[in-house]
Amino acid sequence: MWYQIREYEDKDYSSVRELYSTNFREHKGAVCILTLKQLWVQSLLLGLFIFFFFMFGSLLASILCLSGVLLAGRFAVLCIFEQGVQLGLNEDLRDIGASYMQPGQVSCFWVAETKGCLVGTVAILPCVTEPGAWELKRISVRQEFRQRGLAKALCQKALQFVARHKVERVVLFTSLVQSDAHKLYHSLGFHKEEEFVWPSIYARLINFLVFKYTCSYI
Ligand SMILES: CC(C)(COP(=O)(O)OP(=O)(O)OC[C@H]1O[C@@H](n2cnc3c(N)ncnc32)[C@H](O)[C@@H]1OP(=O)(O)O)[C@@H](O)C(=O)NCCC(=O)NCCS
Repeated sequence: MWYQIREYEDKDYSSVRELYSTNFREHKGAVCILTLKQLWVQSLLLGLFIFFFFMFGSLLASILCLSGVLLAGRFAVLCIFEQGVQLGLNEDLRDIGASYMQPGQVSCFWVAETKGCLVGTVAILPCVTEPGAWELKRISVRQEFRQRGLAKALCQKALQFVARHKVERVVLFTSLVQSDAHKLYHSLGFHKEEEFVWPSIYARLINFLVFKYTCSYI
């Protein structure tokens, strides 16, 4: 086996947080594209273009102004996106030991390493929004080590762990833009049970969908 999966230790703290942030930021391009696909955004950009054209009477000046608006918009979207990264870092990942590794608690955090380098993570804990179910979280694999079965092995480790504790229902939340993860969840036997718009103003504006997947076969 080219990797080892083991339980989280305090020495992994910075690597886990770094992997989470790096992989989360991968989706920022997809969020910018989703924003541009909204009809209201397209109408606004068209309106601004017409406005600039009437103001300056020049096609070049209008294109330049619109480019400026697009750059400012991209910057704003990335700032909002960064708040999403910080949200995770300030939730369970703030104190990973306390969130997952307490004795007597049916929860755990695992890391995968190869040649001393942390290349993947997965975690499971009781679901806050659905009592009686457990939630699979923080599924992440470093980019260079993907599509080699590591995420699947990590998730199976977590599912075997809760199965030993007689857990019958596991859920997870993912979003519209995490399309690689959807394939992984289907291959593990999960299915989409629900979809909803993430409850924030910006998410509502761009119709940012969150999917709840469930698995009841374990
Ligand atoms: C999603 C992610 C964890 C998958 O990791 P991985 O190690 O590449 O996944 P695996 O190699 O174990 O693949 C598992 C299954 O998903 C499929 N899959 C994974 N990535 C895929 C891709 N980019 N395209 C097509 N299929 C893919 C595999 O073919 C495999 O299917 P199979 O079991 O039927 O052969 C990884 O892409 C990642 O870290 N993404 C960024 C973080 C993220 O979005 N996490 C999910 C949070 S909800």
